[in-house]
Amino acid sequence: MIQLNVNGKPKRADVDPDTPLLWTLRDSLLLTGTKFGCGAGLCGACTVHVDGQPTRSCITPVSSVAGKKITTIEAVDNSRVGKAVQDAWRKLDVVQCGYCQSGQIMSAVSLLKTKKNPTDADIDAAMAGNLCRCATYVRIRAAIHEAAKALA
Ligand code: FES
Ligand code: FES
Repeated sequence: MIQLNVNGKPKRADVDPDTPLLWTLRDSLLLTGTKFGCGAGLCGACTVHVDGQPTRSCITPVSSVAGKKITTIEAVDNSRVGKAVQDAWRKLDVVQCGYCQSGQIMSAVSLLKTKKNPTDADIDAAMAGNLCRCATYVRIRAAIHEAAKALA
């Protein structure tokens, strides 16, 4: 049994310690907003925050995050930055198929928490590990600028 702190609430998961955090979130805690893409840390679809840091949950053993603060897409709008990012995503109609977007939003929120007014280059660097097969990159960049403006 692993004790976790997910979205501000204590949770217990009856899983093997090596189980990836992604599958613990999805299968044990039924938080299915975090997606499986590559399973190898390469696409960013599974990104969550662990103690505020963007983390690829598909390659993170659940035992390594016991006692740490885990935030998923389901609770990202509890923060001012998270809400601004989600509002900007809606306003600019960023999403196409949507599969990659929870990971994109988690990475965008991390970026705006560390850099209030990122340049295009900052955005491209911070978001480089989040792939989108629908190629929504231009709208993602615009939405991050929009969120930064709303937060100023
Ligand atoms: S599913 Fe985790 S990085 Fe692709
Ligand atoms: S919106 Fe379809 S993969 Fe990104």
